[in-house]
Amino acid sequence: MGSSGTSTTGPAGDALAQAQAQATAVARRRNFAIISHPDAGKTTLTEKLLLYGGAIQQAGAVRARGHQRRVTSDWMELEKQRGISITSTVLQFDYGAHTINLLDTPGHQDFSEDTYRTLAAADNAVMLEDAAKGLEPQTRKLFEVCRLRHIPLFTFVNKMDRPGRGPLELVDEIEQELGLLCWPVNWPIGSGDQFRGVIDRRRRQAILFQRGERGRQARELEMDLKDPRLRQLVEADLLQQALEELELLDGAGADLTLEAIHHGQLTPVFFGSAMTNFGVHPFLKTFLKLALPPMARTSSAGQIDPLRSQFSGFIFKLQANMDPRHRDRVAFLRVCSGTFQRDMVAHHARSGKAIRLSRPQKLFGQDRSVVDRAYPGDVIGLNNPGVFAIGDTLYQGQKVEYEGIPCFSPEIFSWLHNPNPSAFKGFRKGVNALREEGAVQVLYDTDPSKRDPILAAVGQLQLEVVQHRLEHDYGASTRLEPLRFTTARWVTGGWPALEAPGRLFNCKTVRDSWNRPVLLFKNSWNLQQLQGDHPELALAAVAPVVSGMEPITL
Ligand code: G4P
Repeated sequence: MGSSGTSTTGPAGDALAQAQAQATAVARRRNFAIISHPDAGKTTLTEKLLLYGGAIQQAGAVRARGHQRRVTSDWMELEKQRGISITSTVLQFDYGAHTINLLDTPGHQDFSEDTYRTLAAADNAVMLEDAAKGLEPQTRKLFEVCRLRHIPLFTFVNKMDRPGRGPLELVDEIEQELGLLCWPVNWPIGSGDQFRGVIDRRRRQAILFQRGERGRQARELEMDLKDPRLRQLVEADLLQQALEELELLDGAGADLTLEAIHHGQLTPVFFGSAMTNFGVHPFLKTFLKLALPPMARTSSAGQIDPLRSQFSGFIFKLQANMDPRHRDRVAFLRVCSGTFQRDMVAHHARSGKAIRLSRPQKLFGQDRSVVDRAYPGDVIGLNNPGVFAIGDTLYQGQKVEYEGIPCFSPEIFSWLHNPNPSAFKGFRKGVNALREEGAVQVLYDTDPSKRDPILAAVGQLQLEVVQHRLEHDYGASTRLEPLRFTTARWVTGGWPALEAPGRLFNCKTVRDSWNRPVLLFKNSWNLQQLQGDHPELALAAVAPVVSGMEPITL
């Protein structure tokens, strides 16, 4: 053999080994967020998934974790008072040949803005429905965010052990109301007291549900549809109905293709019961086969492949005081390409500064451990000394800047007054920091004599958190003065577009933090009226993403 062959030692060998490790890691990874309405069973399903991954040893641990968090939190005092969960973190666990990143989202709908942003970092979403309720308001809202990004969506219809709506009706509701094709992967036999299990549609197998003691784990008994025991174990009419419905689906339904799933056009649907652990394991296994691995993402430098050798990623969430003992601020980074390594120096696209990324953390609920390496699809927590803002890109090599994260339409608006002039410094610092952190959106009146900011939020509790933190972290006790608006729309053409129509009625014009015009309406009727009067005025419910612009500060 001559000496001209490729060397596998030295720097070239290291690079090759790193590229191989990266390719293997990307192929293993699946990342998703669960979207649901409160009480649909997100905590329960999360817990069952973690059990399969061996990430927790016993049921109840997620809730226990929640209780512990309530003890160790500080500004989360509010969580304790209200018994809610505000923070969202990432749960990483291995299952079989996969590494799964479950992006956890706040339990309370008032913090859905946080969930919207988390969805920007998710490659897949699982829509969890309560079988008795079907689509609920929060699920619909979150679905719209998934649709904006064409995220593959998997549906889990939960609580089948309880009386619920008919499966055909539930599937039809998704198709009609969300305009999404459904492909049931399994189909229920009966429901509630008469829930007997599901039929795995592709394998033509029945998986029978054998109820455990008082909501305990159910047993899954699997058998062929032709197995004579099936007729002995399941009432003939229930089985007959399920088989007939399946036939109907086979005749009329869409085809299951990865392409349709990955473009967010078709949702695989699963029926089960998270509490009794029925259908969770088959769901996880099928999800891992069908879900999208980390893919190329759009940036200023074109599509960035996860296998690009240089590291890049973006910040999708900031959180202050997760651990009050350290008064720290954490920036959550989604790795998009390359290999993240502890202590690496990366460029911060917005400021152009080089930053050493020291003390990166993996967060599992409230537990943290230092990470040495992370790969595309992973999320890590970075110490944020006030440098990072939501949507910021970090990169090595040629400059890349990922598409920012849009602002979503707020629904609650309130003046924020600072009655104590001597506390103005803290007030200003706090308002700017909380806006940057994404705790709330900040708008300003177009009348320069009205300098107090207008807080804009998706939920009332967001405003309470802001007030609480201004007082406890920045020493400014504030007063809210609610404004009676419920809807905001960004004027797509900016200030010049507002000149043409002249005076607008039944709405208020304000500026957002990037000096863009926003119209506030008291109700959707006023909005429709304005759209009818001025069809040429393009309005957007989601703010265009900002990049390369510095916000207005108080
Ligand atoms: P969330 O995070 O989406 O808000 O829902 P969570 O998991 O907390 O579940 C809400 C309630 O629904 C819980 O009851 C939970 O036990 C119940 N639940 C979840 N999955 C199922 C299921 O498959 N079947 C049935 N029958 N119930 C289910 P809870 O009474 O509020 O709390 P707990 O006393 O059970 O802890």
